[in-house]
This record gives sequence, C-alpha cells and structure tokens, in this order.
Amino acid sequence: MRKVFSFCNQKGGVGKTTSAVNLATLVAKAGYKTLLIDMDSQGNATSGMGVEKASLSSTSYQLLVDNLGVQEIIVKTPVKKLDLIPANTDLSGADLELVSAERREFVLAKRLEEIEREYDFIFIDCPPSLGLVTINCLTASDALLIPLQCEYYALEGLGQLLHTYQLVKDNLNPDLDVGGVLLTMADFRTNLTQQVIEEVRNYFKEKVFDSIIPRSVKLSEAPSFGKPAVLYDPQNRASKSYVLMGKEFLKRYGPKAQAAESVVQAPAAEPEKVEAAAPTTQDKTVHQEEKRV
Ligand SMILES: Nc1ncnc2c1ncn2[C@@H]1O[C@H](COP(=O)(O)OP(=O)(O)OP(=O)(O)O)[C@@H](O)[C@H]1O
Ligand SMILES: [Mg+2]
Repeated sequence: MRKVFSFCNQKGGVGKTTSAVNLATLVAKAGYKTLLIDMDSQGNATSGMGVEKASLSSTSYQLLVDNLGVQEIIVKTPVKKLDLIPANTDLSGADLELVSAERREFVLAKRLEEIEREYDFIFIDCPPSLGLVTINCLTASDALLIPLQCEYYALEGLGQLLHTYQLVKDNLNPDLDVGGVLLTMADFRTNLTQQVIEEVRNYFKEKVFDSIIPRSVKLSEAPSFGKPAVLYDPQNRASKSYVLMGKEFLKRYGPKAQAAESVVQAPAAEPEKVEAAAPTTQDKTVHQEEKRV
C-alpha cells in the first residue's frame, strides 16, 4: 500500500509546494485522513494552509532533531481531515545537525512509524535541495511525485534527481518508486510548452499525469490568502486541473485501486469520488467559525 508521497525536485519554484498543498486538500476533501508535512524551512506549505509560521513552538525541525512526540507537533488545518506538520526557518539548520545523528537517513521514517497508521495519505513537501533532509523524505516515502515546470530547462537537473532517487532505492529504501510526474505552469500557446510535454511524456511514459497544470495568476495569489487555490478560486482553470489530477491520483493510489492491484494486475478500480473543488456552505462555516489553527 503506497501511502507516503514526497513532492521532490531540487530545482526551485517548479510547483512542489503548490501541488502538495492542493493535492493534500483535495484528497482530504474526498474523505481520506491526510497529513501534509512541510519539510522546507521556507515554510510555504505552512503559510499556504493558513498557519501562521512565526507563532509555532514546534515544527518539523523538532521532528528531526528532538524527541518531542509527533502528536505534539501536528496542527489541524482549516480543511477537515487535513492535518499539518508545519515548518519555519528553524529547519534551515537541520541538514547540518542530521550529519551526526544515528542512522541519519532514517530519522523521519522512524518518526513517521508513530503516526502512519492514523492516516490514509501522507504528503511531504521537500525543500529545493538534495541534502540530508530530502534524503530523509525519500527514505520515509513509498513514492516520489516530481513536479516539472513546462519551460526550456525543465529536464535540466533531472539526472541528478533520478540519481539520488536510485541511490536511495538501492541503499536505503528498496520499495521507493516514482509515483508520478506532474507538468506545471504550462502556457499552451507556446510551442515550447508542447515540446516539453512531448519530451517529458517520451521519457516518463505513463508516469506522467494526464492533467497538466496551466500557468495562472490566481494560483500564485492563493498563498497570500492562506488558502489552497482549489478553495480560493475553485473555478480557475489551474484549480480545475488540480481537481483532475487529484482524481487521477486517487485512481492510481486510492485504497480501492491499490487493493485491486494487489489481488490481480487488473485496471485500477474507480476511486472514491473527489468532491468538486467548490467549498460547500459547510466548509465556509469551518473557515469562518471553526478556525482550528
Ligand atoms: N500553475 C501556476 N501558475 C502560476 N504560478 C504558479 C503556478 N504554480 C505555482 N505558482 C507560483 O510559482 C511560485 C513557485 O511555486 P511553488 O512554491 O509551488 O514551487 P516550489 O517548487 O515549491 O518552490 P521552492 O523550490 O522554492 O520550494 C509560487 O509563487 C507559486 O505561487
Ligand atoms: Mg516549495
């Protein structure tokens, strides 16, 4: 059963955090108990979920370097069924501090054992580097999800990422898999975007999600309102693409699909429904009244 997914690409600004925040929200809204772990000292997934970074006394830094119980670090988000392990700048020292830790590549994996059973899905937002924090994320994951920006240099640096993936798979986590490749920030008017899509599909074949996320100003606005784009502007084209991507994800990895796969290598069963991204009255109530964070 694949449950823990890392959004990983050492390249900065390719859509790791945006994808992690929106997919985690959609999966939670589809009824799955979900945990989002912010493993980047920028704390963008934390603020993107509306959680104030500065006020946090415990974050993913404590998860890696202290013995504080994981439950004490988890915070609720305004989205039902979606919990968060937040991050802030404290985490920036973790790469160095982990160097001297015992079984330093397995620290996160070990900590997640404490709570893994409580969640249907765990999504990790990795930092834009391939240091020890990222190695910990990959060692703790069942699969990595690779966001690629539709631009000229999309595939540059990918060799390095895949090399790291292979090293982790060979030496630390043999079950690790590439769970999917997501094309982001597409501008369908340009030939370049079409070329990148073709090149990425040729390389990763069926690993590439059919849904491609278009470039959209609304998507970049959403974090400043502390809301995932699928809740901030559900009618936006990019939000709708994330909804389709969420459906694809659950078709691949929803519990029913995984159960079917483990019995016979049959086509994946229909997933649980992914709710339309539009917030219901009930959700609005949660946002307005039940500010749980
Ligand atoms: N489809 C999109 N259209 C327009 N802007 C987007 C889109 N996706 C993400 N962005 C914006 O691009 C910037 C980078 O996205 P994001 O933070 O998700 O990337 P990242 O890979 O997590 O970056 P980092 O490596 O710094 O952690 C952000 O300002 C985000 O709001
Ligand atoms: Mg990020």
